[in-house]
Amino acid sequence: MKQKIENLSRRNFIKTGMGALGTIAGTLATGSAFSQVLSLKTPRQTLGPFFPDEGDPVHEVRENLDFRLPVSEANDNDLTFIKGHSGKARGQTVYVKGKVLFKSSNGAMEPQRGAVIIMWNASASGRYNHRGDIDTTRFKHPRTGEWVERTHDENFQYWGRAITDIEGNYWFKTVVPGFYPVDIEKGWYRPPHLHFMIMAPGIPQLVTQLYFKGEQIENNDFLKSLNAKDLILRDQRLSTEEQENVIVEFQSDPAGKFTDGLVGQYDFVLGL
Ligand SMILES: [Fe+2]
Repeated sequence: MKQKIENLSRRNFIKTGMGALGTIAGTLATGSAFSQVLSLKTPRQTLGPFFPDEGDPVHEVRENLDFRLPVSEANDNDLTFIKGHSGKARGQTVYVKGKVLFKSSNGAMEPQRGAVIIMWNASASGRYNHRGDIDTTRFKHPRTGEWVERTHDENFQYWGRAITDIEGNYWFKTVVPGFYPVDIEKGWYRPPHLHFMIMAPGIPQLVTQLYFKGEQIENNDFLKSLNAKDLILRDQRLSTEEQENVIVEFQSDPAGKFTDGLVGQYDFVLGL
């Protein structure tokens, strides 16, 4: 019962997008070797309706059978397959990696160890594993005129969790999600995007989304046109700099470590 109450309060916490302002004492080690200034704080963007709360998924994916974990946190950071399935997720494989940093009031940046990151995204054809995602599952592609079916992918993990290491590093592996219509009459389609929720001790929770660009991203020109018109990415409350900050360039890994997918580098910068 206690767990249930904790889950419910967490749900409220998540739905409202509000985090308690905890103390940051102890999280800011002084004299750290890592310090940089002037980086932009990651802008907040809407949670959206498809966060995987308990009971929401059409097909519950739970790799971790510790039921004290909410379902949103019960999967690992590789969304391209589900443990126990032989098949792989459809779509273009990508990695997103970087650090979780805290920007203090004096501009210093500190890596956050032990931050919990939940990432969720639609399948390669643009369908969420969520009971609420039932509108317009078939639509005409606005550029090619071909019919697009938004379908579930039984081998896609849909959401996962990463916990940052001692230097604040995280990584996820996923597929580029499909675009999907929001208001066809107005020509509004959501560009492919990844949703994130980041929880670090003593720091307000951050909810945001990242977008794609890159010559090797499939249909990059078309995605560029969707990015240009998306009413969430182009929200007037975000500065131009903030809007460009959340469009991540994906390319072959310069370090040569990740060879089976493009890599996008993004540091989440949290603040009070
Ligand atoms: Fe979304």
